Amino acid sequence: MLAWRMGVLLLMFAGLAGCGQSLPDYPRRQPPQGLLEDPGAQAAGAALFHSKCASCHGRPSEGRSPRADFFRPPAPDFSESRYRLADPAYLFWRISEGKTVEPFLSQGSVMPAWGAHFSEIEIWQMVSYLRVR
Ligand code: HEC
Repeated sequence: MLAWRMGVLLLMFAGLAGCGQSLPDYPRRQPPQGLLEDPGAQAAGAALFHSKCASCHGRPSEGRSPRADFFRPPAPDFSESRYRLADPAYLFWRISEGKTVEPFLSQGSVMPAWGAHFSEIEIWQMVSYLRVR
């Protein structure tokens, strides 16, 4: 009986953890030394973002784009201050894997996976841009 109760408790904890607020697991990565602070990398990231990403995420000059809200879940507004503090490895992972990983897959995300379309340096350049934008 006690074992059964413990089992129920464990299941409850597992359930809570499963729908928790915590970030999903993603690989730890280090950006190349100095890249995130490099204005040249930020400018290169801005150019890439404007040509491949702003159509959904909006341009900085627009503020929050109406297109971003068109999606369910909506495309995030990168001018929010939390992106200045975001873990670069998390942003790298999201850009390269997009909607192909959980929990974003089940949420019906439309965020494309860009890993095959950009070099690692280009992805880091976009990460550097998102953190100063
Ligand atoms: C087809 C529309 C579309 C395009 C194009 C697009 N995104 Fe997204 N993106 C989304 C949507 C919608 C979400 C929110 C759902 C999600 O998190 O998967 C998102 C989420 C993200 C996130 C995760 C934010 C977070 O807090 O977890 C990052 C980072 C991101 N996009 C970066 C980019 C970059 C960089 C590009 C260009 C290379 C890009 N996106 C192009 C639609 C798009």
